[in-house]
Amino acid sequence: MTLPFLNGSFKKKRNQIMAVDLGSRTTKAVLVERRGDALALTRYAMVDAPISDKKIPTEAMIEHLRTVAGAVGGGSKAVALSVGQDEALVRQVELPQMPIGEVRQMVKLNSKNILQQELPDHVFDIYIFAPKTAPAPETKGAPGKMKVLVGAAPRRMVDDYQAAVKGAGLAAEYMVPGLVGPINAFELSLPQVFENESVALVDIGFKHSTICLLDRGQLALSRTVNIGGDKLTAGLAEAMSISYAEAEGIKIGLAPEARAVLETQVAPLGRELRASIDFFEHQQDRQVTQIYVCGGAAPSEVFLEMLRVEMLAECKTWNPTAFLQLALPDKQAGEIAHVAPQLSVAIGAAVAAL
Ligand SMILES: Nc1ncnc2c1ncn2[C@@H]1O[C@H](COP(=O)(O)OP(=O)(O)OP(=O)(O)O)[C@@H](O)[C@H]1O
Ligand SMILES: [Mg+2]
Repeated sequence: MTLPFLNGSFKKKRNQIMAVDLGSRTTKAVLVERRGDALALTRYAMVDAPISDKKIPTEAMIEHLRTVAGAVGGGSKAVALSVGQDEALVRQVELPQMPIGEVRQMVKLNSKNILQQELPDHVFDIYIFAPKTAPAPETKGAPGKMKVLVGAAPRRMVDDYQAAVKGAGLAAEYMVPGLVGPINAFELSLPQVFENESVALVDIGFKHSTICLLDRGQLALSRTVNIGGDKLTAGLAEAMSISYAEAEGIKIGLAPEARAVLETQVAPLGRELRASIDFFEHQQDRQVTQIYVCGGAAPSEVFLEMLRVEMLAECKTWNPTAFLQLALPDKQAGEIAHVAPQLSVAIGAAVAAL
């Protein structure tokens, strides 16, 4: 699935790309290259994101991107950027059947009616899921309609990122909303599940968590909740009267005395995510069989168990590198299994760009 606001050389086939996931806590970057028919992950890096309550100034972003490119290494100039949930909007809409060029034009000219939101000076892109089977009239949308995924981002933001990438001596080839990455990586890593089942894909980040309901190869619903690792740590700090840094250590180390407190912090997140699953299940009359979790907290079994209790379905992590050849330096090869769930956004953005 692709949904680029920016696609520098649309027709050119790229051989290598550095994809950068600009997370609110940690920037994740991967270098992916074509090797014959296969794709290989050759390097990755994780770098603390610049701290700012407001928009990060261009100079700081240039410096950050330089640091990220240096940490990844490999000398790739071509960059795919995945931008955060606050910065890009992704909506599912139903439109009458028409050629893709016309849909594109219609969304551009008529975004207010289609998205029910005024979006001046935005750039748009669309993605249409190919219908897999002939739709059964009573279960699918209205006859003659098609489901279109619309992405929108402020033109100013796209320009600013492009300028920052250029300032860092790199070339912004591609830009996608953060939602796209995990879906792509999931489709390629677990093709059977993607194709045939109804599952929830959850990305637990720092400021946000995102849930996507994937229904037999299509994105049925997505939602972002403003609860992530930051709120869990802050809640733990307050409940235990300790500093944020101490609480972060306790959370990651899962000190036994903190479990009960952490459970009370995870519960609201679980409830919010469960609400989206309930909505999907009622609307589609389909049961979600599995919850696949990625993002910073995904490697923690205890955290997944706490989520399971709240969400009433099995929560497990998955490996977004399953479809890639691993050609990493020795040290990274040893660590990739542990960090992979946090790289799913970047991996999926790289795949979209190649
Ligand atoms: N083992 C662990 N157990 C629980 N939480 C963890 C663990 N390791 C990292 N985290 C949390 O993961 C969070 C960072 O995750 P991630 O890198 O996915 O966020 P981000 O992408 O920067 O944020 P966002 O997607 O909201 O912009 C931090 O809050 C950190 O505390
Ligand atoms: Mg993230």
